[in-house]
Amino acid sequence: MSPGPKLVVKDKNKKNVFWPSDEMRERAWVGTDRIYKDAAKSPKDFWANLARDGLTWSKPWKKVYEGKPPYFKWFLGGQLNASYNCLDRHLETRGNKVAIIWEAEPEFERERKITYRGLYREVCKFSNVLRKLGVKKGDRVGIYLPMIPEVMVAMLSCARIGAIHSVVFSAFSGSNFKKRVEDCEAKVLITCDGYYRRGKPIVLKNQADVAASAKSVKKVVVVKRFDNKTKVKIAMKKGRDLWYHNLMAKASEDSKAVPVESNTPLFLLYTSGTTGKPKGVIHDTAGYLTQAYWTTLFNFDIHEDDVFWCTADIGWITGHTYNCYGPLSVGATMVIYEGSPDMPDWGRLWKIADKFDVSVFYTAPTAIRMFKKMGVKWPAHYDLSTLRILGTVGEPIDMETWHWYFKHICNNCCPVIDTWWQTETGGTLVNALPGVGPFIPTVAGRPFPGTVADILDDKGKPVKKGETGYLVFRPPFPPGLLRGVWKNPKKYRDTYWSEYGPKVYYTSDGAKWYDKHNIRVTGRVDDVMKVAGHRLSSAEVEDAITSHPEVIVSAVVPKPDEIRGQVPVAFIVLRPEVKPSPEVEASIVKQVKKEIGPTAKPHQIFFVKGLPKTRSGKIMRRFLRSILVNEKLGDASTLQNPEIVPYLKKLVGYRGK
Ligand code: WTA
Repeated sequence: MSPGPKLVVKDKNKKNVFWPSDEMRERAWVGTDRIYKDAAKSPKDFWANLARDGLTWSKPWKKVYEGKPPYFKWFLGGQLNASYNCLDRHLETRGNKVAIIWEAEPEFERERKITYRGLYREVCKFSNVLRKLGVKKGDRVGIYLPMIPEVMVAMLSCARIGAIHSVVFSAFSGSNFKKRVEDCEAKVLITCDGYYRRGKPIVLKNQADVAASAKSVKKVVVVKRFDNKTKVKIAMKKGRDLWYHNLMAKASEDSKAVPVESNTPLFLLYTSGTTGKPKGVIHDTAGYLTQAYWTTLFNFDIHEDDVFWCTADIGWITGHTYNCYGPLSVGATMVIYEGSPDMPDWGRLWKIADKFDVSVFYTAPTAIRMFKKMGVKWPAHYDLSTLRILGTVGEPIDMETWHWYFKHICNNCCPVIDTWWQTETGGTLVNALPGVGPFIPTVAGRPFPGTVADILDDKGKPVKKGETGYLVFRPPFPPGLLRGVWKNPKKYRDTYWSEYGPKVYYTSDGAKWYDKHNIRVTGRVDDVMKVAGHRLSSAEVEDAITSHPEVIVSAVVPKPDEIRGQVPVAFIVLRPEVKPSPEVEASIVKQVKKEIGPTAKPHQIFFVKGLPKTRSGKIMRRFLRSILVNEKLGDASTLQNPEIVPYLKKLVGYRGK
């Protein structure tokens, strides 16, 4: 455990407010809060300086910022390449430094350590492979890979040639991948034979085949993850499916990074909103990379000797920014782990942190809650004294979990950085900085320097301290903020820029001011759930359930869960001739797994005779949510079918008043 020095409590009346130790402050890139004031004087100049200092440009920009609400651009006319910024520019000083340490799930496999030069070579070769397969600037490439280094190679190779990648979480089903492939019309897919999860080889290629049947797909590149002893059955379609290693063996290492204009899309990442169809969030190159670079450097205070470990999967935005573009653009060494935290036991992550001298550890509250449940004996067994900074992301963290993390992982010596952000924001936006503080459990912290946050009430008026409102951002918008929704400008405008007009970015999160500067985020106010940190919409799960032939209609709502934060609970109306049974239930669960993936599996299913509906026929999920948590119910008289409420209360076992 970390030997100290411990964080400081400055005010005895505020025992829960922690400040950095002198040592932490001195070491930090940002050691005083002056940066906030300076940045606020001119956020545009602030970001312009960061973009100039942090990134390597092929051509300087002509104009820093242009706002035409709800559209905006940063660094107009500038040119750069993201893969160049993550690789080429490090070769001279960090060529032999380890970029990626990969740990396989099976412990009999040795770790792989890939240097910056090694990664550069792989990316050069694979970018040439993509070129040979006909991928051009602006083309979309679908990536469906687990946590293996080839996923970073694939992403950076797309970036190198100006192609747009769209990574899909490997635990999502093939049909879910297909929906995304169809929406972005990907030409080439990159996948693998499979990976290890909980000790078992999981075949991925068969799932990828579902998406490969999409009309746009011309070629599928397959990474061979399993050795020859692992017997799995996969099919390689002649003329379409090609082995990664065969293509790489013939590829040239000579590949020029193609400079692109700042506002060129770097990637799409599909995320859940309030409707069933996931939306393709568009991130640009320069703004995104500026934010990825500086948030990595400032939040995690990365220095040359750090070993950074973010446990997120690459299929989520946290994986994109803090397992690829952030750490690699700053030239850090990062750890990635293929498998499950309980393989072979609950000490695995701490064992890995010990083995590789991890100094910055970034994970989700759901994981910490699980560790807390499993007991302190697991972390206590390992030497975690190299840790300097702990981070969390993805959902609100409760007081007890925060303290457990702080006490048992670092002996109260590391700042706990609670980072609030979204797929749409590209990088972190609200959190304390390690050399500045304060670190307050359940309070994310301050908006990142140079960003303008506010909390508004229903009418658009700023709330007073202690009142809950909606978290928003004002111009100039953070450079990492999304630039659009793929092929759906209406969705972009309606979702993010209509609540308070086109000059205010609406986050869909509730929040309140803890004090003048610090923000406590209370969670989503729309029909989006965070299940074990994974983003999932009610409508998405409902669509999957209603695609089952025996279902008429369904409503899915989140229920609080001790470990996973929230879990989906489904209320389902079956066809009149179908009787509820364990078999029907199992087959509906199977359908959800097939349509979305195991993460969306309903935790509990209630077969009901009807759902609360408004006079216009809209299902009132709010009532179901309240019934589940024994909360006071709203006025039921506006319902088309108020008699359904007592029926549902009885069925669920409602204990509220
Ligand atoms: C929630 C994840 C409280 C929030 C990076 C947001 C958080 C949604 C925090 C985005 C946090 C994320 N405290 N809530 N520190 N971080 N959230 O797109 O509701 O998967 O809107 O991005 O997660 O989820 P997403």
